[in-house]
Amino acid sequence: MADMQSTAAAAPAIIRRSDYRPPDWLVPDITLDFDLDPAATRIRGMLAVRRNGDHDRPLRLDGDRLVPLEVKVDGQLLDTGQWSMEAGALLIPLTGESHSIETLVEIAPEGNSKLMGLYASGGLLCTQCEAEGFRRITFFPDRPDVLSRYSVRMAADKARYPILLANGDPVDQGDLPDGRHWARWNDPFPKPCYLFALVAGDLACNADRFVTMSGREVKLGIWVKEADLPRTAHAMQALKNSMAWDERVYGREYDLDVFNIVAVADFNFGAMENKGLNIFNSRYILADPETATDIDYDGVEGVVAHEYFHNWSGNRVTCRDWFQLSLKEGFTVFRDQSFSADMGSHAVKRIEDVRILRAAQFQEDSGPLAHPIRPESYMEISNFYTATIYNKGAEVIRMMALMLGPERFRKGTDLYFERHDGQAATCEDFVQAMEEGGEIDLGQFRLWYEQAGTPRVRASLSHDPATGIAELALEQAVPATPGQPDKQPMAIPLRVALFDRASGTHHGDELLMLTEASERFSFKGFTDAPVLSINRGFSAPVIVETNHDQADLAFLSAHDDDPFARYEAMQQLMVNVLIGKIGGHAVDEAAVIAAVRHTVTDPALDPAFIAETIRLPSEAYLGDQMRVVDPDAIHAARDGLQQRIGAELEPLWRDIHAKTKANGFSLSSTAKGARKLRNTALHYLVASGVVDGPAVAYAQFDEADNMTERQAALATLANGTSAEREAALDIFYNRYRDDALTLDKWFQTQAFAFYPETVDLVEELGRHRDFTMTNPNRVRSLYGAFAGNQWAFHHKSGKGYRLVADCIIALDKLNPQTAARLVPPLGRWRRFDDMRGAMMRAELQHILAEPGLSKDVTEQASKSLE
Ligand code: ARG
Ligand code: ZN
Repeated sequence: MADMQSTAAAAPAIIRRSDYRPPDWLVPDITLDFDLDPAATRIRGMLAVRRNGDHDRPLRLDGDRLVPLEVKVDGQLLDTGQWSMEAGALLIPLTGESHSIETLVEIAPEGNSKLMGLYASGGLLCTQCEAEGFRRITFFPDRPDVLSRYSVRMAADKARYPILLANGDPVDQGDLPDGRHWARWNDPFPKPCYLFALVAGDLACNADRFVTMSGREVKLGIWVKEADLPRTAHAMQALKNSMAWDERVYGREYDLDVFNIVAVADFNFGAMENKGLNIFNSRYILADPETATDIDYDGVEGVVAHEYFHNWSGNRVTCRDWFQLSLKEGFTVFRDQSFSADMGSHAVKRIEDVRILRAAQFQEDSGPLAHPIRPESYMEISNFYTATIYNKGAEVIRMMALMLGPERFRKGTDLYFERHDGQAATCEDFVQAMEEGGEIDLGQFRLWYEQAGTPRVRASLSHDPATGIAELALEQAVPATPGQPDKQPMAIPLRVALFDRASGTHHGDELLMLTEASERFSFKGFTDAPVLSINRGFSAPVIVETNHDQADLAFLSAHDDDPFARYEAMQQLMVNVLIGKIGGHAVDEAAVIAAVRHTVTDPALDPAFIAETIRLPSEAYLGDQMRVVDPDAIHAARDGLQQRIGAELEPLWRDIHAKTKANGFSLSSTAKGARKLRNTALHYLVASGVVDGPAVAYAQFDEADNMTERQAALATLANGTSAEREAALDIFYNRYRDDALTLDKWFQTQAFAFYPETVDLVEELGRHRDFTMTNPNRVRSLYGAFAGNQWAFHHKSGKGYRLVADCIIALDKLNPQTAARLVPPLGRWRRFDDMRGAMMRAELQHILAEPGLSKDVTEQASKSLE
């Protein structure tokens, strides 16, 4: 077989959306027989194939490094001259309309370090097929628009692999000679092969049940290593809540008799929605107070929900091709965000989601890898599981939900599910269902699927006291992005309210549709100039520039009744001061301190909201506000303001820190909010530089009965150079060295720290005996976190760039998908000064010069240089 790796590096083929053609052959039924063994697994695939349309093209079955040991057509063994191989695929000429095809292959799961296809993880055998992993298991038309009914038989050593799971329902099982056993599972719902899964291993089950709205009983199982069973309760509760929520909010009922989840330690991303058998990165299943932070708990709840919701938005209605990925991912993220908001606080969830969007997606949208939520082309589809597809995709659905209102939006989704159940659909199908079900014209709105780049909206409010008219002038512009130099004006829904300065209230919130490049809106009846509150609830994923002065922002930060807008006003107040400081201008820090004091002491506010609002904008977000990012100046300015807020409000921080100490752990929103505020208070107290700061942090670290407080105290200490820093890191390491997920936090906290020596420390940690390139969580904890630490990663020596580039090169040989995810931080070179930019480019070139580089890294690195 050709060496595909070097072929790929020479000229990776570009796949285009416009080249879509329906499949030549359909596969209504498939039977798979697995003879499982970590070193040599044999797979017999039996496919019923049917010619699709009038053509004489051969049957093409994708394969990735598979060698056909046998090929049969209608029971007849073919000799090697009767089939051929092309780029890993098996080609069989066929004459009739329908045939049965049988292939036999052998693979070695234990040697599969890419973690795609069938692989071994911690003594288990498991699969990951999305997007194109199934072709590493058996020959098959590996594309999402080929839907088949699956019957799967597995045989394995019974002692080593007592549990055998696959999609659908278990139908039969039995013992075999030589200590082996077998099981058969059938999935009655036709599905694309990316939703195939199997798991074999020594697993224990947290078993429960759920009765659906039509009264059917579903057996639920969360399968983990025996020792982890006590850490599965939160995931189980999240699953049952998700099932009930999808019935109540979308009218969607679960369809099989069993729903299983398996947690595995080595996984390339969060989790996977395989039909009836979700497979999870264990970090999104396992949680207990000793090892999981509140953020981890929320992560478990959100990801369990996300994968469960895919059963309708993804599985029952799947994607026609991978360009439609946001059809399932954007919609499902929107669904999981809405669910989590309902389970906790809408205000805080919205703030968190926007913070993530801005940190990940806005950066992507302004760089060399910017792409629309429905891309036009790719080299490697794995590179398109991005914040744009997921999070901007969710924002686009959210805008439709906002424009339609809950009832019409539900009519639209009902129509979508009903019309496309059992089909492989497109984004266009979704939009049409929304238009018809929701009775709205989405003509111009469709640009959100086509145009990349974050729209910028300029808003200026003027007021004429003579007429009492306030006029809002809006202008929009979408920046040029790769391949899209010219943009058209978008349809942008903006929720606005005009506040009366004297009373601190407004006369109602309005939804304005900005559809032109520039537009004016008038509002009557204002004797005094009102204050504009715009993009309330972050109604559109855009950057808004207003003509607010600091007094307007302070006013909104004290009075806006929309929690997001209130948060935003405070953030903007802080941004203005920090950017002013960086630019060497005289700034009014006292205004920020007063606003923080006002927020912290407002008894009407929820502590979790207070904590979100008073935290300073991240260094990366500040960088996004500058023409040329200056990491050192940003760090110095932010650190200085933090110190001052800490020092001037010191008694307040001490008071909050003492008052929010709980006696006994609870996961109630009140308890979570108290912990969040307590950690923020600790952070400001230590930042103030008071002599006992590290001692207070150390005491919290030591006394905490939960990971939220323990890790926050550790992170606070890790930012400084106190003796307590070293002590706490040592204790943490020794306490959790045998618990991989918690040890990840030890790596991550250090890689993320504002510590002068972070770069050297990360280099050292890369050689630590507990560091390994074979576990993606560990790699992300160290190098992923480090690349997100703007101050440390962009160290002027360029050493940070070299560390990440060397990691990419080494990791690419094992796991190209995970390696490729580390490339984008280097691709942001245009945003930095010439010296840093040149060093970043040099590392990208260095990566590209590596022989045998994967398609994944080649695509990301070469696009980053363009
Ligand atoms: N569909 C999975 C989800 O729930 C993620 C699959 C990611 N696949 C990949 N090749 N990156 O979001
Ligand atoms: Zn998903």
